[in-house]
Amino acid sequence: MSVVGRIERITGPIAHIRTHAPVAVLEHVWVGIDRLAAEVISVAGDRATVQIYEETTGVRPGEPVEGTGHPLSVLLAPGLIGQTFDGIQRPLEVVREAQGIYLQRGASEGLPDREWAFTPRVAVGDAVAPGQILGTVPETPLIEHRVLVPPLMQGTITEIAPEGALRYADVVARLQDADGAFHDVTLAQRWPVRRPRPIAARLEPDRPLVTGQRVLDTFFPIVKGGSAALPGPFGAGKTVLQHSLAKWSDAQVIVYVGCGERGNEMAQVLQEFPELVDPRSGRPLMERTILVANTSNMPVAAREASVYTGITLAEYYRDQGYDVALMADSTSRWAEALREIAGRLEEMPAEEGYPAYLPSRLAAFYERACRATTLSGEEGSVTVIGAVSPPGGDFTEPVTQHTQRFTRAFWALDRELASARHYPAVSWRGSYSFYAGAVAGWWREATGIDWMDLRRRASDVLEQDARLEQMVRLVGAEALPDRQRWTLEMATLIKEGVLRQNGLHPVDAFCPPEKQARLLRLFVDLHDHGVELIEAGVALLRLREALDRPMLTRLKETVPNDDIDRLDTVARDLARAFGALRQEAEADRGPGHRNAGSESPEPGKKVRS
Ligand SMILES: Nc1ncnc2c1ncn2[C@@H]1O[C@H](COP(=O)(O)OP(=O)(O)O)[C@@H](O)[C@H]1O
Ligand SMILES: [Mg+2]
Repeated sequence: MSVVGRIERITGPIAHIRTHAPVAVLEHVWVGIDRLAAEVISVAGDRATVQIYEETTGVRPGEPVEGTGHPLSVLLAPGLIGQTFDGIQRPLEVVREAQGIYLQRGASEGLPDREWAFTPRVAVGDAVAPGQILGTVPETPLIEHRVLVPPLMQGTITEIAPEGALRYADVVARLQDADGAFHDVTLAQRWPVRRPRPIAARLEPDRPLVTGQRVLDTFFPIVKGGSAALPGPFGAGKTVLQHSLAKWSDAQVIVYVGCGERGNEMAQVLQEFPELVDPRSGRPLMERTILVANTSNMPVAAREASVYTGITLAEYYRDQGYDVALMADSTSRWAEALREIAGRLEEMPAEEGYPAYLPSRLAAFYERACRATTLSGEEGSVTVIGAVSPPGGDFTEPVTQHTQRFTRAFWALDRELASARHYPAVSWRGSYSFYAGAVAGWWREATGIDWMDLRRRASDVLEQDARLEQMVRLVGAEALPDRQRWTLEMATLIKEGVLRQNGLHPVDAFCPPEKQARLLRLFVDLHDHGVELIEAGVALLRLREALDRPMLTRLKETVPNDDIDRLDTVARDLARAFGALRQEAEADRGPGHRNAGSESPEPGKKVRS
């Protein structure tokens, strides 16, 4: 490392440098006597501009700048899982008091070094290709770490570490390439954060990322390898929902990027997550989780970098053949960092002061979501879910608008639902997903239910409900015919008993797909049977009497997730009760009613005995 220049001018996180040795755009440099981490953002002649990832108070013109010769990159190695990093991958110390999280200025990057038990998978003489698995390390009880040939390297193995302990700097394998040159692969590798890691091929997503949240899985599904936007006004529940997704999604690795939000929220994650248990494996959730935290009190440039650090870590585990999900909360704070830096650079602002490249940056980020054939021929995925916090909840602002263009699922949080404490406050009117078709086959297989048809029927009830609500506002529910009042009541049951979900309830926090489908089918069938009965002349009152609505609303909590067949018992009881009502109606209407039109004088008229 050598001094490449000196600071001429410094303003906040931006320093203007006069260089006397070459530096490259995106090069990682150290700025000042305290050696603050920074990245070159532009070079013109002997002038360079850098953004600094740390608090710059006290840094002065004249102080030296050192080059590293490589771009800002992350360290990739076993031991990432379970860690908490800042936006440029320095380990964070968590203190319960004070601000919650802090980082010492000038802290060094990386991971605590230790020994890892390596098992080789290749032998001397093997020809290996980029991305191929050289050996494995048990990283956590949930994750087998696969040590890969770096993406740009290939050749013949001339040395391979035997079974045994390795440290980060140890050579796992030595390769000889076609030109005869030797290359060492160490246990810890690097990759530039702003460059997507290569894959062999993009695959069409075909499996859902099961979140256990009914309103998402059933109505607005996300796929493994897909992308979703989660916009919502302040306090609508974005962070709580992102936490639920991090806890319950069926990804194998979770990367949670806390980006510019309040420090105490992130501290809460850091305290809460280590205590959580994976519902599938029974193991601590931190054994599959990496946290990247850049809270509002931390330097703005590191916040800008944090989403790239996060997604590069995600891609690294994807390349090992895992399904990874990344949650970013909030991408608006990230965009604000971009805006602040652009402002310091005196760039021409575009929409609402954001730089003109906001859309391309957002696109590039969400494009890194994919289901892929990895270089080693395995299958892996990165799913990206970005929270958006539009000021004032106005979805027409640029970050929401552009995010919507680049994501395929849109989970709009609704202020009214949140203030009615209907959580998750995902609007069923304002949300959508383009992935339903891609996962219909999976759902049919997993649940034995025609899922597309079920969704269509349920959405139909909710749509009728929305139309009728307007009438109710005008004329009152009493003025509506029984048939429509029944639909309103059943829509309420679907909202309360399916869409609303209690994230704190031991059973309801996570709802398995089969339970989701059977619960919804129960209510939609109930609606349709009720309509038939009303059309056959049964009074709404009689239907109401036959139902225990509070019991139905609570089924989501009372039916254990491992005893879903109980829903069948409820369905049978309801069918029996409705059957009796039908018989009653038929008996009331006398023997002739079956030949409709011939004898029945007044179809639909009820004769109560
Ligand atoms: N699923 C939920 N269950 C219960 N309470 C919730 C839920 N979602 C949000 N809340 C309540 O709303 C508050 C704000 O939620 P939060 O996720 O922090 O909002 P946002 O991130 O959108 O600003 C929470 O502190 C909590 O009290
Ligand atoms: Mg939040």
